[in-house]
This record gives sequence, C-alpha cells and structure tokens, in this order.
Amino acid sequence: MKTLQIGNVTLENNLVLGPMAGVTDLPFRLLCKEQGAGLLCMEMVSAKGILYNNKNTEQLLTIDEAEHPVSLQLFGSDPEIMSEMAKRIEERPFDILDINMGCPVPKVVNNGDGSALMKNPLLAGKIIEKTVRAIQKPVTVKIRKGFDDAHINAVEMAKIAEASGAAAIAVHGRTREQYYSGKADWDIIRQVKEAVKIPVIGNGDILTAEDAIRMGEETGCDGFMIARGAQGNPWIFKQILHYFKTGEHLEKPSPEEMVAMILRHAKMQLEFKGAYTGIREIRKHAAWYTTGYKHAARLRSEINEVESLEELEELLQRFLAYNEKNS
Ligand SMILES: Cc1cc2nc3c(=O)[nH]c(=O)nc-3n(C[C@H](O)[C@H](O)[C@H](O)COP(=O)(O)O)c2cc1C
Repeated sequence: MKTLQIGNVTLENNLVLGPMAGVTDLPFRLLCKEQGAGLLCMEMVSAKGILYNNKNTEQLLTIDEAEHPVSLQLFGSDPEIMSEMAKRIEERPFDILDINMGCPVPKVVNNGDGSALMKNPLLAGKIIEKTVRAIQKPVTVKIRKGFDDAHINAVEMAKIAEASGAAAIAVHGRTREQYYSGKADWDIIRQVKEAVKIPVIGNGDILTAEDAIRMGEETGCDGFMIARGAQGNPWIFKQILHYFKTGEHLEKPSPEEMVAMILRHAKMQLEFKGAYTGIREIRKHAAWYTTGYKHAARLRSEINEVESLEELEELLQRFLAYNEKNS
C-alpha cells in the first residue's frame, strides 16, 4: 500500500474520504477512519460563515482526536477573508486546509465561490497564495475538469495551484455543468498528473477496488478520493485496502453486520446532533446502508418514518427476522 505525503503530513495510505456536505460529518468520518481511510475530508465550511460566527459553523468545525489526519475545507472567493479565516481557525486540530473550487450548487456559484473559481484562475491563484502565506499547515485545492465543455482548464488551474504553493490537488473529472451526472473523465486526471509535481488525487466514480486500480493505471494519480462510494459503505476503504494487499475481495458485510453499523452510526449521530436532527439525518444513511441487501426495498419507506432510535432498532430487527425466514 502506498503512503502519501501532503506537505508535512504523511498519510498511512492513499485512500481519501472525499468531502460531502451533509454526509461527511464527525460520526461518519469516524466510521470511515475505523475502516482504514488514509485521510478524512470534512464538509465544506463557508469562510464568511466563520467571519460572521454563523451558528451552524461551529458544529461543522468540530474535530475528534481519533480522526487524524483530517482535512478541513473552506469555500469562498475573497482572498482576504479566505486567508484571514484560515488563520483564525488554524489552531484547531485539523491537519490540512483544503480550498473548494468544485462545488456546483447555484447558491455557491452565484456568489463567485466553489466551481465559479474555475472561471477565474487569476483570482483562484490569489486565494491560494494568500492562504498558503497565512498559515503553517499545508493547503490543498479541489478542482473540477472545468466549468463547462467550452472551458476545460483543470491543467491550467493545477499549474496555478502548484505555483501558488498548494501542497496537493484533487481533481474531480466532471465539469460544473455536469454536476454529478455522466461519467467522470479520468483522462483529465492523467493530464493534470503529467503537468504538475505536487501529488494529484484522482476523484470520480470509484466504487470498487478495481475502479481504483484502473484509475491508478490510466492516470498515474498519487491518491484516490472516494465520495459517494462511501455512502452507506464505510467498509469500502477496508475492501479496497484488502484487495490492494491480497488481490482478493472481502465478503460484503452480512445483514447483521450492516444493521449493527447502522445502529452504531445512529447512536453517534444522535449524540452529536441531538435526538431530533440525528434521527432525521440517519434515515438517508440507513437507506444507503441497506441498498443491495435482499428484501431491503420494503424497508425504505418505513425508514423514512422512524422517529426515534428505538423505532429504528425495532424496524431493523424486524428486517433481520424477515430475512432469516425468507433466505
Ligand atoms: C452529497 C454530496 C456533497 C458534496 N459536498 C462536497 C463538499 O462539501 N466539498 C467538495 O469539495 N465536494 C463535495 N462533493 C463532491 C465530492 O467530494 C466528489 O468530488 C464527487 O462526489 C465525485 O466523487 P465520487 O464519484 O466518488 O462521488 C459532494 C458530493 C456529494 C454527492
């Protein structure tokens, strides 16, 4: 298994949990860490949210000691605010600061943030340079292939990031226009890898160990970022690491193991977010966890109705009993 060096931070392996707003919160990151993820990316945080002490921001910034190494991602497009906020939070226990240049959501893009920066490489360079100067911790950048098909500029952006002091770059092989649809273009990852010396982390459509191996062969990338493939499947890191090591596939977790994971995740979620929010948030995770298991379809609608941990537990026990009887 390859390690990965990002500035002064050494990752034990080169598998990265990609940042996902609404998904890669503290409980989920801890579960992915347990399963072997080499780097955990937090949910994106607005630099302006930090500046104005937005009440939701504190929870987004919470980090557990067990997480290291962990990457905190800021979004924003004002070089002054981005660098100042990076400095303001630098004492917090994250290891790497990442800058979001890929978010496609209109609310973000219309402010000139996220993937809008793909359209403004000069400004992107200024943000990176000022942030790198402001803090000691390594600064990385996450970009897309381009803004749209007429503006494919990941290579230019990566060179600017490198020249501005970025310690690594993650490339999602889709344009902003594509959002998350269609197939990720891995060739753009190869082009970026050939253009810069800093580590390049490939991203887009890694769902299995074979995908990671194929991405490595096709692009030469230094690390693999897995986002949606980890939804309901924190085991993906262990599965890929095992395959890298032995060439053999691990068995998919049994229904009992899957249910135990949901319940543990749910307990952590309720503890971290409170009972009301926690149970609502765990519904989508539970639906993801059960995907692909026999007789799970009949669970889905009921999952969306559970109002407490007890109801969730009761539902899942019923599912296991039904499975046992009908297997
Ligand atoms: C629900 C969701 C939330 C996301 N939030 C972020 C985010 O906060 N910051 C970011 O850089 N990318 C975000 N992404 C993009 C992912 O990190 C990743 O680039 C993308 O999903 C492609 O990788 P995948 O095919 O492995 O999912 C998000 C993706 C999803 C599906």
